[in-house]
Amino acid sequence: MADTEAAAKTAAAAGAQTHAPPRGGVRLRGVTKTYGSGETALRALDGVDLDIEPGELVVVLGPSGSGKTTLLNVIGGIEPADTGEISVAGTELTGRPPKDLVAFRRERVGFVFQFFNLVPTLTARENIEAMMELTGRGDRSGAPGLLGAVGLSDRMDHFPAQLSGGQQQRVSLARALATDPDLLLADEPTGALDVATGTSVLALLQETNRQGRGVLMVTHNASVAALAHLVVTMRDGRVETVRRNAAPADADTVSW
Ligand SMILES: Nc1ncnc2c1ncn2[C@@H]1O[C@H](COP(=O)(O)OP(=O)(O)OP(=O)(O)O)[C@@H](O)[C@H]1O
Ligand SMILES: [Mg+2]
Repeated sequence: MADTEAAAKTAAAAGAQTHAPPRGGVRLRGVTKTYGSGETALRALDGVDLDIEPGELVVVLGPSGSGKTTLLNVIGGIEPADTGEISVAGTELTGRPPKDLVAFRRERVGFVFQFFNLVPTLTARENIEAMMELTGRGDRSGAPGLLGAVGLSDRMDHFPAQLSGGQQQRVSLARALATDPDLLLADEPTGALDVATGTSVLALLQETNRQGRGVLMVTHNASVAALAHLVVTMRDGRVETVRRNAAPADADTVSW
């Protein structure tokens, strides 16, 4: 994991505040979300209560269809909940009009997806610059520093198709951090990666968290739970268990 360590050190050297105050707390009360109506109605979230302290790294586990992605989407303001209360990083989302959710997404949260979702016709650097332009946050001159922090200084002008899966995921992490979000939401960020590459992405997520940001990660790998301050399991649209981990492990000790 030498290059991960080097990348983490670069991140710290690039001025990342390792002792910044923790941010990105989350509070949910009685949150429901139903897709469809009538006979085909499907309750993806069925009364979710959840408390996440600022600066926590949270791992969400649960079977396919249990509501994990839906949970991430309502916390990130990608889609509204039907009922219940949601507060994220001090912002109350309940009952907000769509245009407020747009502003909230741009200013408060960053997203990392399983299949990276980079724009294929833009280079690594341009993918990051495009996010900065879209959101009006960050400074284009910061793009090389962000790519350096994820160990990709020598790949900035490559297109996604010219990068490995792990490298693409590191670009997408740098892009998510380009807006300096309070909370990073990651939906199976290692799902498409082999163990070694996945571990290096987990180490970067952990480093991001140690800089004070909240990180909420969905995974199918139960062993990744060892990293978390808080482990949440979901079943049938409900939070089944919440477990606090007194001594989270370092990412590079985790394997699966
Ligand atoms: N846009 C949608 N329209 C209709 N049903 C949906 C939609 N999105 C999700 N669902 C349904 O809601 C339920 C929860 O889906 P969700 O994607 O949150 O599950 P998940 O836990 O992320 O599953 P996986 O591990 O397979 O990704 C599923 O039954 C799914 O089919
Ligand atoms: Mg999902």
